[in-house]
Amino acid sequence: MSLLRLDIAGIRNIRQASLTLHPQLNLIVGQNGSGKTSILESIYFLGSARSFRNSSVEPLIANGVEECLVRGEVESNGQSHAVAVQRNRAGSRVIKIDSDDIKRATDLASLLPILVLGADTVNLLLGPPGLRRRFLNWGLFHVEPSFSSVWEGANRCLKQRNEVLRQNGPDKELDTWTRELVKYTERLDQFRKAYMQVYEQVFLENCKLMMALTNISCRYFRGWGNDGTLSDWYEKDRGIDRKRGFTQKGFQRADVRISVNGEEAANTCSRGELKVLSWAMVMSQGAMLESKKSGNLIYLVDDMGAELDDQHRQRICDYLKSTGNQIVATGIKQDSLVASWKTHEQKLFHVERGALKLEESLNG
Ligand SMILES: Nc1ncnc2c1ncn2[C@@H]1O[C@H](COP(=O)(O)OP(=O)(O)OP(=O)(O)O)[C@@H](O)[C@H]1O
Ligand SMILES: [Mg+2]
Repeated sequence: MSLLRLDIAGIRNIRQASLTLHPQLNLIVGQNGSGKTSILESIYFLGSARSFRNSSVEPLIANGVEECLVRGEVESNGQSHAVAVQRNRAGSRVIKIDSDDIKRATDLASLLPILVLGADTVNLLLGPPGLRRRFLNWGLFHVEPSFSSVWEGANRCLKQRNEVLRQNGPDKELDTWTRELVKYTERLDQFRKAYMQVYEQVFLENCKLMMALTNISCRYFRGWGNDGTLSDWYEKDRGIDRKRGFTQKGFQRADVRISVNGEEAANTCSRGELKVLSWAMVMSQGAMLESKKSGNLIYLVDDMGAELDDQHRQRICDYLKSTGNQIVATGIKQDSLVASWKTHEQKLFHVERGALKLEESLNG
C-alpha cells in the first residue's frame, strides 16, 4: 500500500498544496514553522480524520477558513482508491472512498494504516496510561478482526454499569451489566494478552537492534488483580463502586509498562534513550502489522534529528528502510536529512511558509 498523491487545502498554514509521492521515501525540508509537520498531519488526517497533535480537529483548520480538505490517491493490493476527508469548524465531517460516503473513520484506518514517529511519541512512556491503551487498540484493530466489536461491546457495558452505579440503581440491574461487562472484558483481555506476548519479543529484539540499553522489560497489566476472576473483583469492589459511582477496575485501567533494570523507563532513561525506546515501541507495532499484511503501512517520521546522535539516527533509518514501507520524513537541514536516509531513490520536497517550493527526485 502506498499513498501516490496528496492534495491539501486549509490545513494549518497550508492553503493549498499538491504532492506526488514516491512509493518508498519522501523527504520534506523546511525551516521552523514552514509547514513540515502540517504535511505529515495532513497525511494522518487522510488516514484517520483526526490530528495527531490535538485531540480536536479544529486547530488543524487553517485560520480564516471554514473547512479543511485532504484528498489522496492510495494504491492498495494493486488497486487505486481515491480518498477524501473534509472537516468544517462546526464539526461536520465527510469521508469518501472512491466516491462512496463512509460513516466510520475506521474504514479509513483499514485502508491507510499510519504510524507516527515524532516529538510526542515519547509520551507513550511519559504520558498517562490512556495513551498506551490507545496504542494497544491501534495494534489490535489492525491484527484482530473481531477487536472492534468486542471493544465497542466492552465500552457499551461499562457505560451502562457506570450509569447504574451513578444512579444507585437496583442490584439486579447492576448484576446484569456486570455479567455482560465481564464477558466482553475477558475477551478483550485475551486479545491484549495474546498480542502483548508476541509484541514483547518483537519489541525487545528491536531494542537490541537500536540501542545499547539492556535489561529492558515490557509488561502488560490487565486492569485488575492477578488473583481471582474479574467477577470476584467486581463482587469484592461492589461497595466502593457504589460509593464512588463508577467502576474502579477493568479493561479501562489496563496499561503497558516499560522498565529498564527494574525501574520505570520514564524515571531512569535519558531523553535520547526515551525517544529511541518510544520509537521502538511504535516500530514494533509496525512489525506486528507487517507480519499480517506486509508493505501495508506508512511511517510519518517528524524531525528525527532532534535529540538523537548519529548512531541512533542511522539505526532507526536503516530499520525503517528495511521494512519496505512508504516513509515520509521531515527535517530542517537538507544535507543531514539526505545523509541519514541515504538511499537509491527518494523524493525531496522543500516547503516554505506553507507552500511547496520545489519537488525533486534524487538518485544515489
Ligand atoms: N490553524 C492554523 N492556521 C494557520 N496557521 C497555523 C495553524 N496552526 C498552526 N499554524 C502555523 O503553521 C505553521 C507551520 O507549522 P508546522 O508545525 O507545520 O511547522 P514545521 O515546519 O513543522 O516547524 P518546526 O520545524 O518548528 O517543527 C506554524 O507557523 C504554525 O504557527
Ligand atoms: Mg514540525
